[in-house]
Amino acid sequence: MHDHDRLQRAAKDHLWMHFTRHGAYADADVPVIVRGEGVHLYDAQGKRYLDGLAGLFVSQLGHGRTDLADAAAAQARELAFMPLWSYAHPPAIELAEKVAGHAPGDLNKVFFTSGGGEAVESAWKLAKNYFKLTGKPMKHKVISRAIAYHGTTQGALSITGLPPLKQQFEPLVPSTFRVPNTNFYRAPERQDDLEAFGLWAADQIAVAIENEGPDSVAAVFLEPVQNAGGCFPPPPGYFQRVREICDEYDVLLVSDEVICAFGRLGHMFGAERYGYQPDIITCAKGITSGYAPLGAMIASDRLMEPFRSGSEWFAHGYTFGGHPVSTAVGLKNLQIFEEEKVLENVRANEAAFRSTLERLLDLPIVGDVRGDGYFYGIELVKDKATKETFTAEESERILFGFVSKNLYSEGLYCRADDRGDPVVQLAPPLVATQEHFDEMEQILRAVLDKAAGLI
Ligand SMILES: Cc1ncc(COP(=O)(O)O)c(C=O)c1O
Repeated sequence: MHDHDRLQRAAKDHLWMHFTRHGAYADADVPVIVRGEGVHLYDAQGKRYLDGLAGLFVSQLGHGRTDLADAAAAQARELAFMPLWSYAHPPAIELAEKVAGHAPGDLNKVFFTSGGGEAVESAWKLAKNYFKLTGKPMKHKVISRAIAYHGTTQGALSITGLPPLKQQFEPLVPSTFRVPNTNFYRAPERQDDLEAFGLWAADQIAVAIENEGPDSVAAVFLEPVQNAGGCFPPPPGYFQRVREICDEYDVLLVSDEVICAFGRLGHMFGAERYGYQPDIITCAKGITSGYAPLGAMIASDRLMEPFRSGSEWFAHGYTFGGHPVSTAVGLKNLQIFEEEKVLENVRANEAAFRSTLERLLDLPIVGDVRGDGYFYGIELVKDKATKETFTAEESERILFGFVSKNLYSEGLYCRADDRGDPVVQLAPPLVATQEHFDEMEQILRAVLDKAAGLI
């Protein structure tokens, strides 16, 4: 058993949590989760929660799987550590081959990292390095979308489009520029026509490239479905137009799939779902279902070409990138995906997940329900007819002060977020089924109904 008082005291005295307002715990317990099983989490008191966020878009196969734990233990016994710095080990080699086999087109070169931000960082460095070696040394700038999150290292944070996350760390890495995202609910243009809006949004990338000078732009970073802001799927034709623009200006298309890869959208990669060919995919999270940390940058054959002969090298790496235990777990994870038809489960159930969540649209506070696969955002509004959003004070009081706390106390772990307009984010483990969708909907309904009364 866990000693509640001792853990609380030690947490408050020593544990610096991430993206956490520690002041919120001055007079309240830190929520401590001690165990997981399937789609559920349990706290120190034994209370059960439905994991509506797969941890943090990570736990694709759910919690408590002994086969994944055993794969980790077996690898730690066999070879616990060896870096990928001029040496290799079997699990990294085999996982690279497996991932390359799943990745679209000629994305055959897998550079492992320890997580998603490092993959983004690696992709920007590769883009710069590649163009320096292929006669376009001025190409170095990056274009990304408003409100998009790409990580916290200074390069990835610079690519991130969330000013409140950046201001405390300015000046960041220069040379990044923002274009509009694909939030159709709040479309600034062509609000009447999804496809026309998508083409407009894609064309803003060409405008940004022209404004900056095509000779200076190296890459555009886009998520298949943008998470921050509350799940913005791409309008039909959006990525096809982006691909044309990238080809026209010789700009690399980086698909940041840290959330969207490994089944979140019912496919191994989001690019596959929406039918576009990136030059680089960045991924992490679900690659191991969270049983060990791992990320990867998957690059096209052409991007590795300059580094394959002579004395040229990509002077970049991480001690723990492609860790033997993590890559062994990744291999087992992907093997289970095939054996247990995890992608098929998402594709078979996603329409039911959508329609279950859409029932909430009858609540006056629910403005929009959007997403794809097992990845949804529910936007909360003050006035449904005008789409008026919360003030900062209302967001604080209602979203964080009430919705977030009460969802958790009612047994649903998910995320309330106002990095953009106020949303509740849902991304359950990929093994979730109708009974879990119903449970989510019931808890959300009860809490959001009461929240509407607080406006
Ligand atoms: C799209 C995207 N890129 C990058 C990252 C950063 O990943 P990590 O936290 O593993 O560094 C995240 C994290 O949520 C993400 O969602």
